[in-house]
Amino acid sequence: MTTWLVTGGAGYIGNHVTRALLDSGRQVVVLDDLSSGHADRIPQGVVFVEADVTDRVALVAALAEHKVDGVIHLAAKKAAGDSVNVPLYYYRENIAGMLSVLEAMQEVGVKRFVYSSSAAVYGTPLVNPIAESAALAPESPYGETKVVGEWMTKAQGVANDLSWVALRYFNVAGAGSDDLGDTSVNNLIPMVFEALEKGNRPQIFGDDYPTPDGTCIRDYIHVSDLADAHVVAAAFSENLQVSETLNVGRGVGSSVREVMDMVSQVIGTQVNPQIVARRAGDPPASTAATQRITDVLGWQSKRDLHEMVSSAWSAWQHTSH
Ligand SMILES: NC(=O)c1ccc[n+]([C@@H]2O[C@H](COP(=O)([O-])OP(=O)(O)OC[C@H]3O[C@@H](n4cnc5c(N)ncnc54)[C@H](O)[C@@H]3O)[C@@H](O)[C@H]2O)c1
Repeated sequence: MTTWLVTGGAGYIGNHVTRALLDSGRQVVVLDDLSSGHADRIPQGVVFVEADVTDRVALVAALAEHKVDGVIHLAAKKAAGDSVNVPLYYYRENIAGMLSVLEAMQEVGVKRFVYSSSAAVYGTPLVNPIAESAALAPESPYGETKVVGEWMTKAQGVANDLSWVALRYFNVAGAGSDDLGDTSVNNLIPMVFEALEKGNRPQIFGDDYPTPDGTCIRDYIHVSDLADAHVVAAAFSENLQVSETLNVGRGVGSSVREVMDMVSQVIGTQVNPQIVARRAGDPPASTAATQRITDVLGWQSKRDLHEMVSSAWSAWQHTSH
């Protein structure tokens, strides 16, 4: 049985990854500073280390004490818009955090690594679906930190025999159970729920994009499918010496209006969105090419938009806000 340390394991995606790893028969250590995570969502039987990832000493101690075989590094700050206003904070949290994780792994001799990257590395895609070979053109300090994290992983893979997989997530949504909902209101679906809860009309930022219904198109992936991809990636890095960068999406685009329509269908009330001005830096469309992850890992998404919205709604109703 192998042991994996999950940084950011108290967060939205980390909660799901932790549970999926446990279900796969692996042991899990969560390291998280609880800046946005929830300690009460960490399952029984998981060792919890409350620490900042920039604290290399704490990381070294956790890796050594628990005889960790591999690290899944999710801990980061993730609001692209916010990162434009406070870039140095994002560089410190995400790049210095990454440096500290890789240094600690080298010090202890941990050689397996799964890195949480993002479709933000592509910026505005020239072609959809976007293949992993597309040029990287991040449009925010947040996206830049994910590109630098990939560079660091790759370089350390060469220099220190890391067996690694970097996963570029598209738009993550849904909940694996009612106690694991997404509490961040940076993402569209929780944003809609929050507006409805406050008696406001949810906003659509621009309906004059060059897309069939004029609203932006994104590739939504269920968080449970994403968590499964981490387990498959971890197993892959255990069994082989690998260096892979893979998109994680469904390869299916859904417009903002389609998501709002799905919310209306799920909650049984017309959402009645309000059209407001475009936000700076929103690409009209972004969908993942998924052939590579299927070829390399044998992974495919299983859950559709209806499952994402209905599980997110159910979890939202069970969570106090
Ligand atoms: N949610 C998405 O749609 C999405 C899309 C692409 C990539 N990602 C990436 O996935 C990862 C997880 O995102 P999430 O949606 O679960 O966010 P989240 O905010 O719910 O989880 C992040 C977790 O990391 C912890 N953390 C943050 N900074 C830390 C630090 N310095 N030291 C220790 N712990 C720290 C937080 O407390 C939290 O538990 C991030 O790296 C994010 O960039 C998310």
